[in-house]
Amino acid sequence: MNKLAIQGSQWGDEGKGKIVDYFSSRADVVVRYQGGNNAGHTIVFENQKYAVKLMPSGIFHKGVKCVLATGMVINPISFFEELEILKKANFDVSQVFISSRASVLLPYHQLLDGASEKVLKDKKIGTTGKGIGPCYEDKYARIGLRFCDIIDENRLKKHLKSALEFKNRELESYSLDKLDFDSLFNQINEYGKKIKPYVCDTSKLLQEEIKKGSKILYEGAQGAMLCINYGTYPYVTSSSPMAISIPLNCGIPLNSVDYVLGIAKAYTTRVGEGPFPSELFDGTSVYLREKGHEYGTVTKRPRRIGWLDINVLNHAANISGVNGWAITLLDVLTGLEKIKICVGYRYQGNIVNDIPASLEDYEQYEPVYETLDGWNEDISHVKSFSELPINAQKYLRKIEELTHVNIAMFSVGPDREQTVIISDPFEDK
Ligand code: IMP
Repeated sequence: MNKLAIQGSQWGDEGKGKIVDYFSSRADVVVRYQGGNNAGHTIVFENQKYAVKLMPSGIFHKGVKCVLATGMVINPISFFEELEILKKANFDVSQVFISSRASVLLPYHQLLDGASEKVLKDKKIGTTGKGIGPCYEDKYARIGLRFCDIIDENRLKKHLKSALEFKNRELESYSLDKLDFDSLFNQINEYGKKIKPYVCDTSKLLQEEIKKGSKILYEGAQGAMLCINYGTYPYVTSSSPMAISIPLNCGIPLNSVDYVLGIAKAYTTRVGEGPFPSELFDGTSVYLREKGHEYGTVTKRPRRIGWLDINVLNHAANISGVNGWAITLLDVLTGLEKIKICVGYRYQGNIVNDIPASLEDYEQYEPVYETLDGWNEDISHVKSFSELPINAQKYLRKIEELTHVNIAMFSVGPDREQTVIISDPFEDK
């Protein structure tokens, strides 16, 4: 149990940052394996709030190696903005490693993200506007720049020149101004020089750490339902937040993950567009949004709110193999008289439990609920499962029963201390 994967198992924002941070003090290495600064992890530490977007959450613990792996798309400008904030707050940033094969997110990606969303109008994805999709597009179109390309002036010149030819045509097609090669080159060359000490073959680094028996934490961003392959396509992000993508995204063998900890909020949220069968539009959604501070870390958008959807959890678990759940924000449900769980969907007269491939089908799925009694007792200081009010215990047991996966831990507040472990997934055997 040395190699633990943290996987968001809904539509992101499950509170992964807090869980990763919780285990980071025991890790030798923390790895981000996909996405970029579309993610936003907020952790509360000694009453101080810290938000990281690119940096693995291990950065808050001295001596932990922080790896930004090959599957990521990294904006060098944002990387240094974050690094400076962390340095000023006296966090140790000397052990940060960026994959030489990771994709470089450049200013034109962000411009194109905004432009394509505008063209899509009411069919827009509702992206974070950070350029994530366009950067992955370039990767797969084989015109992207990788970090090995920008740390060498001559290589940068060659690769940027040919990429910009395509990109300027694209910018023009959206009636945007073309970018000037020289000024972009000078800007990125400066960042290339600055970033060089952080760039290495992280696949080799991780292989060596695995051989040594180091404790490794793989930190997923977003959530399973935003997976490019198995999420609510096209309303997804452009990478796979599923734990099964870890070996490929990190350049390590298939057996490099011992345990997948599925992170699930005690209810459901989503930002951006796309289907969400258990979404609420009544007073309960307002109550949960305000109580759970459900506003995007990156974009500050109010999150859409709904009841817990078991079908979503099972989808994530069936595809990537969840070994245990971490149920977060349980305290936010306190005070509700009744709590519903979406246990199936009604579709064309039948009860179904799958997440269909087709968006048009999923939009017709209507939630089928089971209703449980709520609780009023303050649970924010609870230290064990048995200290929970009986109805909160029943709620958690119901999740286990419906998913056939045990709850390894739950969280009752934003602080590190407000975390209750039932069975430790990161313990040495
Ligand atoms: P993109 O990743 O910016 O391209 O956005 C694609 C979709 O993923 C949009 O619906 C975003 O709101 C959503 N998304 C991206 N990152 C996150 C996240 O960290 N939390 C929740 N939703 C996200």
